Amino acid sequence: MLTREENERLTRVGRGTAMGELMRRFWLPFLLTTDLSEPDGPPVRVTLLSERLLAFCDTSGRIGLIDRACAHRCADLFFGRNEENGLRCTYHGWKYDVDGKCLDMPTEDAESSFKENIKLTAYPVRERAGILWTYMGPKEQTPELPEFEWARVPDGHRFTSWNFEQNNFVQAIDGGIDTVHSVFLHSTLDSHRRLDEWQQQGKRDGDARIVHRVRTNPPKLVAKDTDYGVLIGGKYRGREGTDYWRYNNFFMPFYTMPPGGGSGLSKKIAHAFVPIDDENCMRWVFTWNFEQPLSAKEIAEMRAGASVHVEFIPGTHYPARNISNDYLIDREAQKTLTFTGIKGIGEQDFSVQEGMGKIVDRTREHLGSSDIGIVAMRRRLLKAAADLQEGVAPYAALHGDVYHIRSAELVLPADAQWDENENLKAAMTATW
Ligand code: FES
Ligand SMILES: [Fe+2]
Repeated sequence: MLTREENERLTRVGRGTAMGELMRRFWLPFLLTTDLSEPDGPPVRVTLLSERLLAFCDTSGRIGLIDRACAHRCADLFFGRNEENGLRCTYHGWKYDVDGKCLDMPTEDAESSFKENIKLTAYPVRERAGILWTYMGPKEQTPELPEFEWARVPDGHRFTSWNFEQNNFVQAIDGGIDTVHSVFLHSTLDSHRRLDEWQQQGKRDGDARIVHRVRTNPPKLVAKDTDYGVLIGGKYRGREGTDYWRYNNFFMPFYTMPPGGGSGLSKKIAHAFVPIDDENCMRWVFTWNFEQPLSAKEIAEMRAGASVHVEFIPGTHYPARNISNDYLIDREAQKTLTFTGIKGIGEQDFSVQEGMGKIVDRTREHLGSSDIGIVAMRRRLLKAAADLQEGVAPYAALHGDVYHIRSAELVLPADAQWDENENLKAAMTATW
């Protein structure tokens, strides 16, 4: 539970808010390069941290991220003409380059110097890992890009997608590090019947995840602050003398990484939940294989919504199954097949996260022992925001190498130190 004031501080991201200023100290992924690949192509609306921006690719292939409102009388530059290395407002023809500089002002005398004084807000753009990143904070504090393994593997090893999620970003992070929910929200009834039988029969061999992670074996949670964010351990009762541990990571300021990530141990997933405004976020999914390229079949399946990617309304970043159609919940399937009756892991997550409302009222929560990681993440964010107000910049923003780790799952001896042991170190060390 948080107080009303804490919840406000945690969730508001506009300029001048505590959390908004913290977010402005980090690079933000805001589009795929393929969203904006064509010189002089259509500009793309981008809203980040409640600022209405516009991305465009000019004639020379340079990418700009500028204020969406024309400096003259605030017309929407989305409707502008993308022409000859600049974007021209369709209202009265003022024209801007990728740095926001006003290049032309046909409503004034040719000799007028008025245009020299006109500059739109423009944010720097970097391209990395097929993603466009921007930084909206003070220039002299420019951070490092996070050195995630998914950002460093060769391009063929990675598949990335993003979708609109219609709730505050912290709600999405809450879900992203919540190890307990999967055996409910993402489960099928059949597999659970089968697993419970296996357990009763004492069959504990094979896939550690499948054997230990069942509803009858709730984990004990522990969490600790780290350089990069919060390490969360979920301890599941194991066979005699052992525990099965799942490590979820929260990375400052909005990344999560669960252990595992699909068939094959070298395949991993991670998320970013980038605040669009107080009530919406971009949900990014990064799937990567650190040993080998992803196959064409795997990529085609993810494009169609496999794993935690989503099925889109064609040509958009909106999920086809969304809150406006109740995620196409199938009540019959819910009775007979799956816990939710909703198709898609992402969509199952949205049904609970968006279903809470845009900004959940955290004064009404009753947090239990399974929420220890979530409490630690929220405290970490609030503390970092308060520190920044005291003049202490977030460490992770200036040290991209702290992101160079993986999440892990391990069977450990019952007396092992959960957060420091050789097995964990080996499993969490990224190679790329
Ligand atoms: S509002 Fe854009 S040129 Fe007038
Ligand atoms: Fe989930």
